[in-house]
Amino acid sequence: LPAVEQAASPTPTSDLLFDRLLASGVGEDDPYPAYRALADFGPVQQLRSGTWLVLGYDDCASVLRDPRYVNDVERVCTDKGGPSWGDHPSLRMLSEMLLMANPPRHRRLRRFVAATFARARIEALRGEIGRIVDELLDRIEDAGTTDFVAEFSDVLPIRVVHLVLGIPGTGEDEAGRDLRHHTLAFNALFERSMSPERLEAADRAVLGLRAYIGELIDGTSREPAGDLLSSLVAAHRAGLLDVDDVVMLLFQVYNASFQTTTSLLGNGLHAFLHHPDQLELLRRDRAAVPAAVQECLRFDPPVQTTGRHADRDVVLHGAGIAQGDMVVTILAAANRDPRWFPDPDRFLVARSGPPPLSYGAGPHYCLGAGLATLQAEVAFAALVRRFRVLEPAGAPRRRPTANMRGFASLPLSVAAG
Ligand code: HEM
Repeated sequence: LPAVEQAASPTPTSDLLFDRLLASGVGEDDPYPAYRALADFGPVQQLRSGTWLVLGYDDCASVLRDPRYVNDVERVCTDKGGPSWGDHPSLRMLSEMLLMANPPRHRRLRRFVAATFARARIEALRGEIGRIVDELLDRIEDAGTTDFVAEFSDVLPIRVVHLVLGIPGTGEDEAGRDLRHHTLAFNALFERSMSPERLEAADRAVLGLRAYIGELIDGTSREPAGDLLSSLVAAHRAGLLDVDDVVMLLFQVYNASFQTTTSLLGNGLHAFLHHPDQLELLRRDRAAVPAAVQECLRFDPPVQTTGRHADRDVVLHGAGIAQGDMVVTILAAANRDPRWFPDPDRFLVARSGPPPLSYGAGPHYCLGAGLATLQAEVAFAALVRRFRVLEPAGAPRRRPTANMRGFASLPLSVAAG
């Protein structure tokens, strides 16, 4: 296979494309042609840094499901903060997170949060999510022209995560805004590049987060109240979880939930605005909403890549990956693998095919996938039900990040009907 030969020899072009796409940490308007160009060099390839890129659907899924690829906390954190990364509060937090944990710690910790995200518990939130969506769309309808990010896609996921976690308020007060701000600063750690300024901002953010979550824990009553905060505090008081793990799990869930869901809503709406025929299909057939949300996830995923380290020598698609090598699974490219998604660059709401890899795969498969999908289904169904006109009202602005791909601003014009 030419792909195998390609895998053996680093290509300067792959390096250039990777640097431009991801290592720069600057989001492109349309990175997909460059992902396609990268994929044309082969499904598995190695950069000069030694890092491997995996671009095909099956290969990405198999890396994420294969226990021979692990989260090597030491390497990830050293990469971001140097050998004394332990001096950085943000990297210490990252190193403890569920997302970075390996078995058996991962399984043990995930159990404490899994019940909150069970299918029936999520489905029970549909009515409340519908009420929040309607309230936000009332405001948008009155205004006629709006910034969809500021008025909707940033607000809904935060209100929902406050509800699910049991964080007081709706996220619109000062404490809520600080929490959100700190989380965005921390999320810079998920880019494939790190500057000292970003690291310092992430450190400051973690100190603020720890203090705030500590106060929440202290103020939580002994009786579990159905939300995640009270169930974790109950587990702590029963001696099952130490307080650092309670802080970490709350932060992990809050952190993983809102920027991603915000991006699904924004990236999805952007795709609809630029494919009015597909918006029309959705308007005519509301039963198409779930498939349409899957297509939004596939077409422009909020998390473009994730990664693991090989904990032993592995052969993948004919390429020899050595123990300790970093493997970046490019989910955004896997979602456009033509073997599974014919005509992959077209946005087609009626597409069938396997689920996109936007929520990952394997033991770290997104815990909040059901919750994020539900929010998007309720939101897109309500948008087409309420508004006869949904049109761009100016130039959108992407967030200045590449791996966490979303909009900072998305001007929208609506008219009811
Ligand atoms: C569209 C929205 C979302 C996207 C695209 C997304 C994406 C992902 C991805 C790709 C992973 C796996 C990362 C890896 O394997 O390295 C993940 C894990 C995770 N997600 Fe999501 N996520 C979304 C929404 C949410 C929400 C709403 C929550 C919680 C309320 C959440 C909580 C988590 C948690 C806790 C993990 C770590 C699971 C583990 O390590 O076992 N996510 N997410």
